[in-house]
Amino acid sequence: MTTEATTSITETGKRSGSLMAMPVAAGSVGSVEAALRPRIVGLRCRNCERPEATGPSFVCPACFGPLEVVYDREAIRAQVSRSRIEARAPGIWRYLELLPVEAPPARGLAVGSTPLIRADRFGAEIGLAPGRLLLKDDTRNPTLSFKDRVVAIAAARAVDFGFDTLACASTGNLAGATAAAAAAIGLRAVVFVPADLEPAKIDHALSYGATVVPVAGTYDDINRLSLEIADEEGWAFVNVNLRPFYSEGSKTLAFEIAEQLGWRLPDVLAAPIASGSLFTKVARGFDDLVAAGLVADKPVRFIGSQPEGCSPVAQGFASGGDEIVPVRTPNTIVRSLAIGSPADGRYAVALARRTGGSIQAVPDESTAAAIRRLGRTEGLFAETAGGVTLGGLEQAVRGGLVGPDEEVVALVTGNGVKTPDAKWFGLEGGDADAGTRRADARAADARARGGLARPILARPILARPIEPSYAAFTRAGLA
Ligand SMILES: Cc1ncc(COP(=O)(O)O)c(C=O)c1O
Ligand SMILES: [Zn+2]
Repeated sequence: MTTEATTSITETGKRSGSLMAMPVAAGSVGSVEAALRPRIVGLRCRNCERPEATGPSFVCPACFGPLEVVYDREAIRAQVSRSRIEARAPGIWRYLELLPVEAPPARGLAVGSTPLIRADRFGAEIGLAPGRLLLKDDTRNPTLSFKDRVVAIAAARAVDFGFDTLACASTGNLAGATAAAAAAIGLRAVVFVPADLEPAKIDHALSYGATVVPVAGTYDDINRLSLEIADEEGWAFVNVNLRPFYSEGSKTLAFEIAEQLGWRLPDVLAAPIASGSLFTKVARGFDDLVAAGLVADKPVRFIGSQPEGCSPVAQGFASGGDEIVPVRTPNTIVRSLAIGSPADGRYAVALARRTGGSIQAVPDESTAAAIRRLGRTEGLFAETAGGVTLGGLEQAVRGGLVGPDEEVVALVTGNGVKTPDAKWFGLEGGDADAGTRRADARAADARARGGLARPILARPILARPIEPSYAAFTRAGLA
């Protein structure tokens, strides 16, 4: 491998140099022409490769396969460099050349550049050596989940295409992200959610002035309804008719991780899977970085996780075949991952197999335990999807699929304040971790709300209030 000094013009017009331990690309010498070519070529069917013009389309008219964005990789390589990226402000738009948008949007939320944190205490409890577990803390995005990334890209394109209404079919987090993004850029927001969704998530979307439409059905029912509404009303559904652009947003996680590791890739990537878009696009993001000459190529093993009560992709992986059998009635506390008919399920299984990874089915009890462990050991409060990911990683380490000295990056994609009760699942009859007393106070309420979600039957309550005196404090046995 050669070490090459590269120089490029930064956004401020200053010349800056950086040392890149990368081989010179064949053909990059004559890349003046490539540097002037458009980066975004158009759309293409993932199944039959039929090309389509760039626009709000998502399905191949010939074979009904999903469309994806096609880039001119040589043009990107000629236009992007580490120093150019590093000279820019934090946030997803620092990776502009690798994204399906021509220019950063004039308005929008401040998304991305979330921390990659060393999690030695959590790692030690699941059997990883010090310094080997890193958590991508996407709980810190504007609406507290990674969905702000995908929505930012779709929203920018919705503006380009001239839509006036931003909509989505959501398992929860997407509703808040869509509502907030629409508010920030001045579009109307209409979000469709399962009627029995966690109240905190519905309230979140309402906070941004969105119209929230509760639907008596599963996510898959809502997705079908959204297809029809997108067609009839001409609305921009971020994850339906803008899906080719939306899905590219997950790549920004890969770009940030590589940059935060000092422009290199980890050994293992652990992520949650609902539709499988995030999981597969992070892998594509790593590929794009290699193709652009920004990182050296290296195998990364992909470990995906799903809740056991809605795990069509994990079952598909375990079956050894190609078929994904849809789950009609999800039965899990992990509402954010409750997609029974995952659009990218097949691609997710193929990725796990190709990279020597796996897809874990995680019981809800393990998810709740992982959420509690993460809070207790790292001071980080995860939504259920983070619990599934870390519960699945623990299964993979204990099963010998991940060695103690491998460098693992795990994605914590949502904030626990959106699912405050989930962490207590499975504690009935047991003890809470934190010296609290338990009660079944919410049992009746949870059962009444019932729906498709598993009720969380009990949660710890605080000890009785004490008088504001030191004597009362010692009497309560707290010293
Ligand atoms: C917090 C969180 N993490 C991960 C996912 C998985 O996303 P995907 O559908 O891309 O697999 C979701 C999906 O809703 C989510 O809300
Ligand atoms: Zn096709």
